[in-house]
Amino acid sequence: MNPFLFGKVVRGEYFADREEEIKFIRNEVESGQNLVLMSPRRYGKTSLVVNAIENMNAKCLDINMELVTGEDDLSNILIKKTLSLSPFEKLKNYLKNLRVQPDFKYEPGSGELSISLGPEKKDIPVYLEDALNLPEKVGASQKENLVIVYDEFQEIRRISPGLERKMRAILQHHQNVVYIFIGSCQRMMGDIFGSRKTPFYKFARIMNLKKIPEEKFKKFIIGRFKKKGIETNGLEDDIIKRVDNHPYYTQQLCHEICNLNSGREIRKKDINKAIGEIIVEHNADYMRWWKQADNTEKRLLIGITEGDKKYTSGNFLRKYGINSPSTSSSAFKRLVEKGFVVDLNGEIKIEDPFWEIWIRENRKQML
Ligand SMILES: Nc1ncnc2c1ncn2[C@@H]1O[C@H](COP(=O)(O)OP(=O)(O)O)[C@@H](O)[C@H]1O
Ligand SMILES: [Mg+2]
Repeated sequence: MNPFLFGKVVRGEYFADREEEIKFIRNEVESGQNLVLMSPRRYGKTSLVVNAIENMNAKCLDINMELVTGEDDLSNILIKKTLSLSPFEKLKNYLKNLRVQPDFKYEPGSGELSISLGPEKKDIPVYLEDALNLPEKVGASQKENLVIVYDEFQEIRRISPGLERKMRAILQHHQNVVYIFIGSCQRMMGDIFGSRKTPFYKFARIMNLKKIPEEKFKKFIIGRFKKKGIETNGLEDDIIKRVDNHPYYTQQLCHEICNLNSGREIRKKDINKAIGEIIVEHNADYMRWWKQADNTEKRLLIGITEGDKKYTSGNFLRKYGINSPSTSSSAFKRLVEKGFVVDLNGEIKIEDPFWEIWIRENRKQML
């Protein structure tokens, strides 16, 4: 078994630190306070919430808004997940009170019930309202806290334009459910929860998740390598620096180092070799992303990988051949929106440090 994991929720020994954040979330949930948790992608938001809630006296439903295709779909998911919390005898009562009745189908394969809104049932606003209110009803009869986690919540704006307003109007009356909204598009999440003009303004307490403190993450790395009988010899420092202490990419790099290592210790060249392997393995993705950028975006990406971050300055525009500050600004916004570039209060980075190396090395070969 590789002691490092990436790309899925991490728990137990695969999960580092976050002690203060866990304490904070548990306190807030216990006092009924709704929360917003935001950070760039892959900082560990989902893992943190899962670890915080898992060992407390609470029931939790999670809905990944990325996978939701519309208001009818959201309602079906909510009803199905909420009903799964209740004992069978109680289901009848809850169902009876839905003003629009969904269709149920028993899936013999999985032994589960699937729920859908029949094609003739057009009254989606009523169905949605009842679906959003169902957890409040079920929560009232539960001893434990009921927590609903909406993950990748910024997707609400794609699902339907009026959904934000409808949800807020209903959720604001709930006393028996605590809501946690997780989001990875800082700008949109900030706009949804922090802008006076939007429905969710002041609905929840906002928490910005930072990276894991370096010292704690290093201890975790040393311990995980030890588990495999490998000494890091102080090179955990180099590892973290190469990926800017990013939780996901650090785990990815360590995972690869472990895969390649059959000895008892890490050497500097092992780190380079692992990075080389990752880049070869993902070459097709990196090329696809590169092709998704237009020419101005490509120029900006090159500038950023070369360490030039003042993308509207005269120097930058001249050096990389961009026409005007406004052209550069709008290309930059698009790069952030696509998730290629992260802008944390002016600290600008290529999101994937391995892609950054790929861009730099490929350009070097050409010029
Ligand atoms: N506390 C942690 N300890 C160790 N690794 C972590 C931690 N949090 C996140 N990671 C790494 O980052 C990856 C992405 O975490 P995830 O919770 O999916 O992030 P997000 O929800 O912010 O996108 C995980 O698969 C894991 O490799
Ligand atoms: Mg997540």
